[in-house]
Amino acid sequence: MARLIGALLLLLAGPGTHSEEIQKTCIAGEDCMLPCRFREATSELIHWYRNNAVVHSFYYGKDQLDKQDKYFQNRTSLFQDQIPRGNASLLLHATRIQDRGKYLCYSSTSLSSKELSVILEVKAPIKSVDLSVTGDEVRCLSRDIYPAPSFSWSTDPSQPSDLLQPSNNSIQESDHLFSVDSKVRILGDCSNHTYICTITSADQTQTWEASLKCQDMIGTAGQALTIPCLAPRNLTDFTLTWSFIGEQASFTILTFRSLTAEVNIHGPDQAQVNISEAKLGNGTLQLPMGQSQVKARKYNCTFSSFQSTHTILTYISVTDATTAERCLRLFAIPLLLWIVVALGCIVYIKRKEKANKLSLSEAVEMNQKDDKLFTESVLQTRTKTQKPRLS
Ligand SMILES: *[C@@H]1O[C@H](CO)[C@@H](O)[C@H](O)[C@H]1NC(C)=O
Ligand SMILES: *[C@@H]1O[C@H](CO)[C@@H](O)[C@H](O)[C@H]1NC(C)=O
Ligand SMILES: *[C@@H]1O[C@H](CO)[C@@H](O)[C@H](O)[C@H]1NC(C)=O
Ligand SMILES: *[C@@H]1O[C@H](CO)[C@@H](O)[C@H](O)[C@H]1NC(C)=O
Ligand SMILES: *[C@@H]1O[C@H](CO)[C@@H](O)[C@H](O)[C@H]1NC(C)=O
Ligand SMILES: *[C@@H]1O[C@H](CO)[C@@H](O)[C@H](O)[C@H]1NC(C)=O
Ligand SMILES: *[C@@H]1O[C@H](CO)[C@@H](O)[C@H](O)[C@H]1NC(C)=O
Ligand SMILES: *[C@@H]1O[C@H](CO)[C@@H](O)[C@H](O)[C@H]1NC(C)=O
Repeated sequence: MARLIGALLLLLAGPGTHSEEIQKTCIAGEDCMLPCRFREATSELIHWYRNNAVVHSFYYGKDQLDKQDKYFQNRTSLFQDQIPRGNASLLLHATRIQDRGKYLCYSSTSLSSKELSVILEVKAPIKSVDLSVTGDEVRCLSRDIYPAPSFSWSTDPSQPSDLLQPSNNSIQESDHLFSVDSKVRILGDCSNHTYICTITSADQTQTWEASLKCQDMIGTAGQALTIPCLAPRNLTDFTLTWSFIGEQASFTILTFRSLTAEVNIHGPDQAQVNISEAKLGNGTLQLPMGQSQVKARKYNCTFSSFQSTHTILTYISVTDATTAERCLRLFAIPLLLWIVVALGCIVYIKRKEKANKLSLSEAVEMNQKDDKLFTESVLQTRTKTQKPRLS
């Protein structure tokens, strides 16, 4: 609307004044283009200024940088091939917060001259919010933001905010960028509440939320382990990351992307999630029999989605097998083995006896058969020998 009115005013003002103003917002660290156009003609001359400092100059068909302000040295360029087409846009490399301000694009040709103002705003959006547990405090950290954001703490179930007592409620500035670094005291146990840190950008267009909860578990050495982890609410497009927190560093053991239902397993742990459950926000991890001798283990289960993360830290104390189980292993299992062996022996002996009996009866039968054959043959020989005598 404002622009429309501006354009109308320009039209009313007539062709004498060639001055307009535009707004441009760029992201800190990225390249930034300040737009500027003029009516194409020969003998182009382009000057970019900021508060009387020369940002960039071009005439006689090439860049003229001997009067360039040192602050802009090696950081600017024009689109040389576009200049004959009336494009005097300036490219500012790796924009800084300090680059904010009003720029003037002055252009002239054999036909006309023109001035254009570009008001440059530079922002450093919130990129991440990190929650961690340090001793008896939860710490919320988000770095390099501009302009200064606002932030707040809450818990679930909620408790009076004066109980939270953020110990460092300040927003610090360094090199024109702001960082939130705040801590709250853990009330009772870290597993009693979910701690939520919310950071909102100055223009209210971004709201980031990070939450953290703890849970304690007991595992048994050498046995499979199931670590529950549920998303806080209906999440649709998220990444689930499971990591093992070691003494020195963390190791990602599994990632799951809900959109593609793609699971990536890292490391030798052979950890698993049930994909159909994970899609619905149940990221429960199944770890097979652990060989590890580590007695205390820490796992990090994080659901990340657009501008939000939810972390569940699980502290597992690994116990040796219980006394009952040890008894079982020491006595019952060998006993069972003995029973099996004994049973095997008995069966074997029974079989053998049966086999012996069998062979006895067979032998008797054979003998009988032999006897029969014998008598038969004897009879035959007798008849044979007797026949000639008869004939
Ligand atoms: C000027 O040229 C650049 C590079 O081709 C292009 O990205 C930009 O849109 C052009 N600007 C104008 C105002 O035409
Ligand atoms: C710009 O680049 C030149 C050549 O690479 C270098 O000598 C000079 O120091 C640079 N200037 C700044 C301000 O970085
Ligand atoms: C948990 O894991 C997430 C994702 O890998 C990471 O951003 C976060 O810093 C970790 N948190 C803790 C307390 O280790
Ligand atoms: C807040 O944190 C900053 C930087 O970590 C530190 O310099 C300052 O002393 C802290 N303030 C309080 C009250 O703890
Ligand atoms: C934290 O939870 C434990 C058991 O879940 C309970 O015994 C304890 O009273 C709780 N502490 C606070 C401060 O709520
Ligand atoms: C979660 O989503 C399912 C289906 O998409 C719906 O039936 C259920 O009511 C939702 N639950 C909550 C707590 O929003
Ligand atoms: C995953 O969970 C679903 C629903 O609870 C179940 O029907 C299915 O058998 C499970 N799959 C595996 C591989 O355990
Ligand atoms: C989560 O999934 C696991 C299997 O991976 C299943 O045993 C458990 O019952 C599920 N929990 C809930 C609350 O659905």
